[in-house]
Amino acid sequence: MSATGPVKAITVPDIMARKGTVPLVCLTAYTTPVAALSDAHCDIALVGDSVGMVLHGLPSTLEVTMEMMVLHGKAVRRGLKKALMVVDMPFGSYEEGPAQAFRNAARLMSETGCAAVKLEGGETMRETISFLTTRGIPVMGHVGLTPQAVNAFGGYRVQGRGEAAERIRRDALAVAEAGAFSVVLEKLTESLARKITSELAVPTIGIGASPACDGQILVIDDMLGMFTDFKPKFVKRYADLGRAADEAISAYAKDVRDRAFPDENHVFMDVQGSGGSETA
Ligand code: KIV
Repeated sequence: MSATGPVKAITVPDIMARKGTVPLVCLTAYTTPVAALSDAHCDIALVGDSVGMVLHGLPSTLEVTMEMMVLHGKAVRRGLKKALMVVDMPFGSYEEGPAQAFRNAARLMSETGCAAVKLEGGETMRETISFLTTRGIPVMGHVGLTPQAVNAFGGYRVQGRGEAAERIRRDALAVAEAGAFSVVLEKLTESLARKITSELAVPTIGIGASPACDGQILVIDDMLGMFTDFKPKFVKRYADLGRAADEAISAYAKDVRDRAFPDENHVFMDVQGSGGSETA
């Protein structure tokens, strides 16, 4: 509830209606407190499989499991009132075919309470996306640089320069035609992102794909500056939390070693006659 009544949760049709209007604000979220902080400001909270690299220290998203997505999805759900929650389908949970994808997408929806799932891939995912969307599972597509295919790409390079542009354009069209309600465009040149955005009837959400998209998404830990040694070109840092945390932990360590913490403000004393209290 807010001062003016209950908060209205954003729906999939609300997101689709934003095509070509006010840009969609999207961030990843993996935990309850961070989801709660983002909720007031964001249209979409994506429980990205980037959680594997960001929170679990994994070398890529390939090791992320359904169990991890369910666990983080449940945590994020508890922090949201307004933003539309989308959960990534992890590598290996949907590529076998529509039936496997449906089983795992349904599990993500029923166990986490998310409103939609996201999966990577273009033309090859057409049948699967169509299968899911015609059975009540809203799907967000993801084309361009698809991190689950990092081994095939040989790295996390910009996509869509030269001949590959036409293939990526066709991938985006296939995903939208199959029923996706929005499509993430990752690490594409501005001209390609602009072309795809103008051709698709559903919103495009860019990450490293220029302001031509209908919305933007970033990994929240990147934009908060949690990693002092990781700063890709497409990320703008809105805070320097990694450095702030380092300074705070260093100050704490010094205080403990100097016996400067805890001081009298953090110590429980006997209270004469009352037997003491939990908080005083
Ligand atoms: O997993 C992820 O974080 C993503 C991006 C689009 C942000 O898929």
